[in-house]
Amino acid sequence: MDLHLDLSGTRGHRDEIYRQIREAVLDGRLRDGDVLPPTRELAHRLAVSRTTVTAAYERLTAEGFLTGRVGAGTYVRAGAARPAEPAGLAEGVQPRPEWTDVPAPPKAFTTPPEFDFRAGVPDVRLFPFDTWRRLTTQALRSSRAELMTYGEPQGDPRLRAELARHLAVSRNVRVRPEHLVITVGAQQTIDLVARVLLRPGDLAAVEDPGYPPPRLLLGTLGVRVAPVPVDDEGIVVDAIPPGTRLVHVTPSHQYPLGVAMSPSRRRALLDWAEDNGAVVVEDDYDTEFRYSGRPLEPLHSLDSHGRVVYVGSFSKVLSPALRLGFLAAPPALAEAIVKAKYLADWHSPGIEQAVVAAFIAEGGFARHVRRMRGIYRARHDLLVDGLRAEFGDVLDPVPASAGLHLSASADRDLRGFARAASGAGVRLFSLGDFSVTARRHGLLFGYGAIAAERIGPGLARLRRVLDG
Ligand SMILES: Cc1ncc(COP(=O)(O)O)c(C=O)c1O
Repeated sequence: MDLHLDLSGTRGHRDEIYRQIREAVLDGRLRDGDVLPPTRELAHRLAVSRTTVTAAYERLTAEGFLTGRVGAGTYVRAGAARPAEPAGLAEGVQPRPEWTDVPAPPKAFTTPPEFDFRAGVPDVRLFPFDTWRRLTTQALRSSRAELMTYGEPQGDPRLRAELARHLAVSRNVRVRPEHLVITVGAQQTIDLVARVLLRPGDLAAVEDPGYPPPRLLLGTLGVRVAPVPVDDEGIVVDAIPPGTRLVHVTPSHQYPLGVAMSPSRRRALLDWAEDNGAVVVEDDYDTEFRYSGRPLEPLHSLDSHGRVVYVGSFSKVLSPALRLGFLAAPPALAEAIVKAKYLADWHSPGIEQAVVAAFIAEGGFARHVRRMRGIYRARHDLLVDGLRAEFGDVLDPVPASAGLHLSASADRDLRGFARAASGAGVRLFSLGDFSVTARRHGLLFGYGAIAAERIGPGLARLRRVLDG
């Protein structure tokens, strides 16, 4: 560990080295197991005698901050309590008030609950780890230095070419690679589109109930956000307020209800966008998993006026940890969005993009989708049967033919129940968590993360919680 020590202006070098290392351990800059430089090297770097450094190390070792073995180096032995932060620091620079309305972000999903019915989480145990390892090794072996330098803000050209072909074949989304932008997840697409199109005070509309992050993000940009009701045909276009400049929708599988936007509603939304000079962000976040029926034409394919930004994500189909998503921009927007991407974070991670491109090119992506679709379909069917058996008297599942979760309506607020279930080892969201003004009651049952054989026991546990 290359710890910065500053002896300028100090006289007692031994004490100062001791004090600065001790402080670094206490405030967490140095952590348990970090290796300190050998005494000879540190003495040389600080232009002091080796005995001075050795004496400081010996004192720290005696006090339990360091541990050393001859020939194996000197290590930090943390565990000492961290001192309290000086009181004045908390009164320093403050964020804009908009940020106080944003709830704390979720913690990592790394420790799953006993029964995981959280919506939107794929089964990462079935991630194609072996193929990934092979393709990553290949990329690093053959693709050389160009992967390690700054890449194209718009995204890896090979990935954009593969993706354009894949989208045309699997979704009838016809887009030229030069109009695709690779992002760090679907969420970033909202940020980029809003930056190039909206000013503070402009009006945007989101589905209610809906996926909260786009609404929250737009709010932090100073955009006014109107929640618009959703019925069983999708967003109620007639309820979009006049003056709206951007609408975010999930037409394939409405989040959270699960309904698909009807063909007539799709037409109405596009006509509305055309009449109002607005943009429609079509979030096709989990479209790969369709279990029955023909997929409806995406808004993007129906749009002949350049009003739709089509958005996809690799989070559900592969892994959210990749942080890769994309957008297909209307031609007139593409250049500005690429500039916004460059200014936001230059580009998405290069190695991951190269590996996804190779995965699609060799046919592994399509095979993975087919395999996962079969697995998720079986879980979906088990869940529908289980809900009927265990909760027929309380919950009314909303029919859905796609995605990774199923919603079920109830005639009372179940937010408290969902919290109680969490205490009993069953994690799930309630519809109320996704409503702004809509009074939708019910629960969401994700089946991405839970293995088929856990669904029955999970529902039984949930029923016991309900029966108190
Ligand atoms: C409606 C919707 N859009 C997008 C995403 C995925 O976002 P990202 O690609 O940023 O992981 C989710 C994930 O839960 C979602 O529910």
